[in-house]
Amino acid sequence: MIKPHGADELNPLFVYDNEKHHALQKEAESLPSLLLNSAAAANAVMLGAGYFTPLNGYMNLADALSVAENMQTADGLFWPVPVVNLTESAEGIEAGSRIALRDPNVEGHPILAVMDVEAVESVSAEQIDGMAEQIFGTLDPEHPGVKTFRSLGNTLLSGPIEVLNFSYFQTDFPDTFRTAVEIRNEIAERGWETVVAFQTRNPMHRAHEELCHMAREQLNADGVLIHMLLGKLKAGDIPADVRDAAIRKMVEVYFPPNSAMVTGYGFDMLYAGPREAVLHAVFRQNCGCTHLIVGRDHAGVGDYYGAFDAQTIFDEKVPAGALGIEIFKADHTAYSKKLNKVVMMRDAPDHDKEDFVLLSGTKVREMLGQGIAPPPEFSRPEVAKILMDYYQALDAKN
Ligand code: ADX
Repeated sequence: MIKPHGADELNPLFVYDNEKHHALQKEAESLPSLLLNSAAAANAVMLGAGYFTPLNGYMNLADALSVAENMQTADGLFWPVPVVNLTESAEGIEAGSRIALRDPNVEGHPILAVMDVEAVESVSAEQIDGMAEQIFGTLDPEHPGVKTFRSLGNTLLSGPIEVLNFSYFQTDFPDTFRTAVEIRNEIAERGWETVVAFQTRNPMHRAHEELCHMAREQLNADGVLIHMLLGKLKAGDIPADVRDAAIRKMVEVYFPPNSAMVTGYGFDMLYAGPREAVLHAVFRQNCGCTHLIVGRDHAGVGDYYGAFDAQTIFDEKVPAGALGIEIFKADHTAYSKKLNKVVMMRDAPDHDKEDFVLLSGTKVREMLGQGIAPPPEFSRPEVAKILMDYYQALDAKN
């Protein structure tokens, strides 16, 4: 099986041993505590679940700056996006202290993790902006990722963590949230060798579905890991529970038996386009996948990124051998009237002359918002029904 990133074994920071877990929980209650922001909490969940192998905790300033600039830590580990705990106020927290990290996303703010604080560093506004520009490729305050990153705070706490739970992801999505450890184990149990991961934050429309089928066939893969983001999204994106139901229905009806695993991970969307695509590749490798589908405007938002920037970054900025996983570069996928099916445009003969019906999640959301059922070229009827019900319930509420 493909090795995890930068390590022979996964490095989940969740405390699996029951006795140790119990003792740590008890100790944590007596420690000084810090209320995390959602971005830092999501990092803790990813670290806990093994997705961010081989990291041991939050990065210090030297690593964060180096990762933002060159996609590698100060001692040379390839890593695409800083994994940080930036906070507005760390009063009373000093280097060398042990603190409890509280979860901002669960009522009562229970303890999510325990941290050994190695350094407390001030980050200047110029350094924050510098990192934001390198990660997101823009400093536009309207970019949702830039907006979030600049709002996190100017104090950076770094050091190793031990994780006590998986926040709301395990309780709210028990059938879908999976750790990298669980996914690796399930892939091994199924005996899958070539496994292609599909990242999504949307309900899967026809284009998404066909991308999975095409990648599976062209790579002769044993299966597809449909791996959806379960964390925070920008306003207007379809909530994870609705998307989960739609995807499950689609897989049930339209995928060959045992050809797909429907799973999710607990992370907030960054909207960092190319950089996020590379992060996606790192953590799918950690899940045991050999390939990741990267299509048009992967992890993008608005028109900040070129349609295929999230593919070219792998050729231009990822050093050879830095990743074990390979990228399945998907072309723009659309409905061909001539062929009467959904295809990647490059696969359609005479594609320069064809009149394709362009499929996009944004377009579907607009139609649904106006109470119009998306046509079958866009969405499977079973998927459209789930989405229509959600939009109607939304309308009734407003
Ligand atoms: S993402 O933010 O999670 O990337 P989304 O769920 O829309 O957004 O996309 C999931 C994957 O499908 C990405 O790799 C994206 O590039 C790809 N994709 C979505 N729609 C198309 C399309 N029409 N043509 C090609 N690739 C697409």
